[in-house]
Amino acid sequence: MNLEIITFILFVHVYFSQGDRISLDGQLLNHATIVSRLKLLQGNITFTNEYINKCIYLVNIGTNDYVNNYLMPQSYLTSRIYNPDQYAAILIQQYSQQLTTLYNLGARKVVVFGLGPIGCTPAQIARVGTNGRPCVESINNITMLFNNRLRPLVDDLNNNLRDARFTFVNVSGIAANRLVMPNVPCCQIQSNGLCVPNSIPCPNRTSTAWYDGFHPSEISNSRLAARAYIARSPLDVSPNDISNLARL
Ligand SMILES: *[C@@H]1O[C@H](CO)[C@@H](O)[C@H](O)[C@H]1NC(C)=O
Ligand SMILES: *[C@@H]1O[C@H](CO)[C@@H](O)[C@H](O)[C@H]1NC(C)=O
Ligand SMILES: *[C@@H]1O[C@H](CO)[C@@H](O)[C@H](O)[C@H]1NC(C)=O
Ligand SMILES: *[C@@H]1O[C@H](CO)[C@@H](O)[C@H](O)[C@H]1NC(C)=O
Repeated sequence: MNLEIITFILFVHVYFSQGDRISLDGQLLNHATIVSRLKLLQGNITFTNEYINKCIYLVNIGTNDYVNNYLMPQSYLTSRIYNPDQYAAILIQQYSQQLTTLYNLGARKVVVFGLGPIGCTPAQIARVGTNGRPCVESINNITMLFNNRLRPLVDDLNNNLRDARFTFVNVSGIAANRLVMPNVPCCQIQSNGLCVPNSIPCPNRTSTAWYDGFHPSEISNSRLAARAYIARSPLDVSPNDISNLARL
């Protein structure tokens, strides 16, 4: 088994206090530079192409298009311009082009992560309230529209691009299947949803679903990783879990 993983894009933090970030288009341009440099260094384009074709790319993006844009009507106009379904459609349309660009740069095995249960994050629960339910249902309904379009996008890419092996990870589905853990953070959070600086986090890191107001705890992440790698149900990851992808 030749498992080479390029962790391509992880959560892009757009919180103002957290500094600058590189857009997905910018990351694709950077990746094109890396691929050219690799071709130059390896001195054999066939070899480099075969090499890149074997890599497993992980693409996990979209959370902040909701958390730090659509769900912030005081700062962004998107929720006034687009209804939730139109917004999901626009994001997916751009994403389709960006994933095709990644394919054109040589990527074949690409793991695409859906959005997690944003309505279950302590920050959204504190902001909106849940009406006695475990999560903010209206927010999960909005982000589900994106997930429900992302999965068919993955199928389309596989059908239309030769040798493409895109695969979809159902992050929300996996999260809903975990053992029930409270939707509370492990640390004491301040008004921006991040941990109070220098505060002492909870002693037991496996007891909460969330680390701070936005980010999953270690236990949530490791359960997601385990089921993305070896799916327990065909709904977790499709069409190939990561362990299958590594063998192809
Ligand atoms: C270039 O790489 C391919 C694929 O690994 C190999 O078959 C071929 O012999 C290489 N060409 C040269 C000139 O080394
Ligand atoms: C969320 O979607 C479910 C299923 O479509 C629906 O029954 C429910 O009323 C929706 N909830 C809200 C708050 O929009
Ligand atoms: C994700 O999994 C859940 C069940 O665990 C399922 O209801 C849902 O349809 C799946 N979503 C997608 C987009 O495949
Ligand atoms: C931490 O929490 C988990 C889940 O609530 C529990 O199973 C475990 O025993 C706890 N560990 C310690 C050291 O308290």
